Amino acid sequence: MEKKLSVAIDGPAAAGKSTVAKITAEKFNYIYVDTGAMYRALTYKALLQGVNVSDELALKQLLEITAIELQPSEIGQLVYVDGENVTSEIRNNEVTSTVSEVSKHRLVREEMVRRQQELGRSGGVVMDGRDIGTHVLPDAEVKVFLIASVDERAHRRYQENMQKGFSADIEKLKEEIALRDKLDSEREVSPLKKAADAIEIDTTSLTIEQVAEKIIVLIEERKERA
Ligand code: CDP
Ligand code: CDP
Repeated sequence: MEKKLSVAIDGPAAAGKSTVAKITAEKFNYIYVDTGAMYRALTYKALLQGVNVSDELALKQLLEITAIELQPSEIGQLVYVDGENVTSEIRNNEVTSTVSEVSKHRLVREEMVRRQQELGRSGGVVMDGRDIGTHVLPDAEVKVFLIASVDERAHRRYQENMQKGFSADIEKLKEEIALRDKLDSEREVSPLKKAADAIEIDTTSLTIEQVAEKIIVLIEERKERA
């Protein structure tokens, strides 16, 4: 039987991880796991319930009683918290500006990593995030680290907002992205970092299709050696 690989895609905000991870997962009929959506889902619930995001124990206890489900659909991945569809809500500004405060806590990460490893345990998975190649799937056969300039990433988020009919300030987007990169890279527990054996791809001047194609080639090459 053909070997089903584990593919880890990491990198900073708006580097194109989830877009190319979805394309790659579809191509090989693998499952796609958006780990950022899981941290966003917990952040959404903490804000809704007024839980202090500096209180590590309170967040851990909240996570223990929170069901987070990721469901593929025709219109993209749907995210459910305790059975409620929160796909749009988890992308709002409040969640985006708070999520790094939630994700920095060790007790939160331990439980998230446990759930993510469970989702990836049978292989045939493309998982994207910040610590997939370094902590969640350290034995992944293919590891990719996507980067792009802050200007390009802010521009991508700007375009995304425009397409959805929202207004956006490019300078604010740049600041938000740079701050989140800093918090995610400087936290003590499993910071955003390229795994030693990951292949770095600078996507600044590449299209989505070009990036996806590079990753597909890496997977095909690895499958031939499996
Ligand atoms: O899509 P975007 O790049 O804006 O972010 P995301 O992938 O949805 O992740 C949101 C936040 O969750 C990140 O800024 C990190 O603080 C956190 N995160 C993490 O700590 N570890 C992961 N494996 C994935 C996300
Ligand atoms: O998951 P992550 O935050 O890394 O990024 P994303 O949500 O997949 O991509 C952010 C935006 O950039 C999306 O609107 C993509 O369509 C766009 N993008 C792009 O324009 N060129 C690329 N090479 C990759 C993504």
